[in-house]
Amino acid sequence: MIEHVPVLLDEVLGYLDVKRGGTYIDATVGFGGHSYAIAERLHGTGHLIGIDQDDDALAAARAALKDFANVELVKGNFEAIQAIAGELKADAADGVLLDLGVSTHQLLSDDRGFGFQSHAGLDMRMDRSQELTAADLVNRLPEKKLADLLYRFGEEHRSRAVARALVRARPIRTARDLASVVLGVLGRRGRAHPATRTFQALRIAVNRELEVLTTALRGALSLLRIGGRLCVISYHSLEDRIVKDTFREARSEGMKILTPKPVTPSRDECRRNPRARSAKLRAVERPAPAEPSAVMV
Ligand SMILES: C[S@@+](CC[C@H](N)C(=O)[O-])C[C@H]1O[C@@H](n2cnc3c(N)ncnc32)[C@H](O)[C@@H]1O
Repeated sequence: MIEHVPVLLDEVLGYLDVKRGGTYIDATVGFGGHSYAIAERLHGTGHLIGIDQDDDALAAARAALKDFANVELVKGNFEAIQAIAGELKADAADGVLLDLGVSTHQLLSDDRGFGFQSHAGLDMRMDRSQELTAADLVNRLPEKKLADLLYRFGEEHRSRAVARALVRARPIRTARDLASVVLGVLGRRGRAHPATRTFQALRIAVNRELEVLTTALRGALSLLRIGGRLCVISYHSLEDRIVKDTFREARSEGMKILTPKPVTPSRDECRRNPRARSAKLRAVERPAPAEPSAVMV
């Protein structure tokens, strides 16, 4: 297993403000880095639920959190956060965390197909029990639909040229082959690999990432008890826009935004953990209802 370093850990703990006896949900438990710190602050009291759709992540989290009897780990998609919390009698939460996207383990594991160097099949499923893989999209979508997908989920401005080259190169078997076709069309410019946007688009489509995020945010907000907080770390602008817009709507329904601007990692954290570079943390709280104003007689 490739270790995953939790991003913006101090900042998340600051906003979650973990209270003894509280109920917390880490909806992306991953390798359990954030959960471990939350569990420590619960000092054996309260209840922490960790959710992940990836069996590798759950196995790693299980090992990392084995000493905490108040932690329950569940395999599931966070779009069902309300139902999962309900089943575990945690339908009023003091804090919910979503640390979106993929883990370092998923990104760097050769057999998952998330990374440019992967020799494995083009997979990119976080939940390997689902059917659709990146290979299905790359090798079967009509060219126009593939171009639209790359534009919409990858903000790839040369989506048509990339889609044309991919269709010509079919069948594309590995992540590495995919990366080299895209490199052939776009050439190398700047520090990021030119296939970054194509990989992002496919990953988002395979895992329905934007669709499930909207549902999960609504579900998480509805679980918060008074004083309860929701923290979300996003890693690209499409995700952050959904978080920002949902929080704005929530504010009009009485929620309090704790981060007028997203919180970003320090230079030191980015140096220690380059994966943190694009992270943005936003937090919101369900405040106590306003006191009714004195009735004039
Ligand atoms: C960035 S990692 C989380 C790392 C974690 N905070 C830690 O400290 O180890 C994101 C995790 O969320 C999981 N994930 C992403 N989307 C999900 C979804 N819709 N439902 C459940 N888990 C999801 C991924 O499988 C991955 O393990």
